[in-house]
Amino acid sequence: MTSARTRPDLLVVGGGIIGLAVAWRSAQRGLGVTVVDPAPGGGAAQVAAGMLAPVTELQYGEEALLELGLASNARYAQFAAELEEASGLSTGYRACGTLAVALDSDDREELRELHAFHQRLGLASHWLTGRECRRLEPMLAPGVRGGLHVTDDHQVDGRRLAAALVEACGRAGVTLLRAGAAELLTGAGADRVTGVRLDDGTTLAGDTVVLAAGPRSHLLPGLPEGVLPAIRPVKGQILRLRVPAPYRPFLSRNVRAVVRGQHLYLVPREDGELVIGATSEEQGYDTTVTAGGVYELLRDAHDLVPGITELPLVETSAGLRPGSPDNAPLIGWTSLPGLYAATGHYRNGVLLTPVTADLAAQELATGVTPALAAPFSPTRFSRFSAKALA
Ligand code: GLY
Repeated sequence: MTSARTRPDLLVVGGGIIGLAVAWRSAQRGLGVTVVDPAPGGGAAQVAAGMLAPVTELQYGEEALLELGLASNARYAQFAAELEEASGLSTGYRACGTLAVALDSDDREELRELHAFHQRLGLASHWLTGRECRRLEPMLAPGVRGGLHVTDDHQVDGRRLAAALVEACGRAGVTLLRAGAAELLTGAGADRVTGVRLDDGTTLAGDTVVLAAGPRSHLLPGLPEGVLPAIRPVKGQILRLRVPAPYRPFLSRNVRAVVRGQHLYLVPREDGELVIGATSEEQGYDTTVTAGGVYELLRDAHDLVPGITELPLVETSAGLRPGSPDNAPLIGWTSLPGLYAATGHYRNGVLLTPVTADLAAQELATGVTPALAAPFSPTRFSRFSAKALA
């Protein structure tokens, strides 16, 4: 069965924030776009804290990813303003900065090394004593030993961002098909993309498919062997607390620390929500919230900011980060003609949404690969077999 719908220029499989942002930017460039997803705007952004932290989340050896993260961070304010204008909805973007603190002398040494690394790379990051940290954030534990103030690492509200992208896509003429993608169609020779079959059996014809299905990207039936590596699901459990009006501002900026080897962050929203995250667990596609996960987050957050125990706990949730084999995203044409990937953003999906959308839309509309996207070509994994690793 073939649908009577007009053949789009792009079929986007996956309507999380990455798929939607690519769709929106591509529609702005004049392409006809259809997004296929049972629940557009869902996915990891519904859980994520929304820290925009290319500097405080920097890992050694990830300088190419840093460049991409900084480029995305630099365009976030404009992206959010444009999206708010286009959708009529707030994104919750907040230019508040981040304070990364040390709770003991080992943490302090580690943060000192990170500070030196920042300085070698010319990144804006300022060392503060424990007293200076507490002057900025009086709710911090008295034992805080020092910290790094990174004034350019901000936050956005992932849920608001997703809702704004759904609305902006609709207003820009993107077709949002609330259906699942059952199969990638690759023609008689299985040698190029010819469309997508939906889970109700409908066939959508199209020469270009953008695969943006997060940790399920490589599992799309019909995808030829070796085109995509396995994108592993990395579970993150998150808590949402509410700061009653008389206690605001409880925290004025993002606060983070490494506590017992785990990355912990507290992200205070302007509306009083306080997000505490996140666990990092590699155990398949499970999104159960566990007593142990909640306990560890509350215990570690209490070590950092003892007053959190007074706040109402209003929500617990868990999502899946899509991790590629090198933890960097896949942005670009795959080895299968007609198949473009925008997936594998791991810990940085919210941060990298603007730059991914801009680079992908530019490449899809003009055929020219932007230099910034080149290191993230999906073909760097061509030796991997998705099916073997699944
Ligand atoms: N970027 C934060 C996280 O993945 O937990």
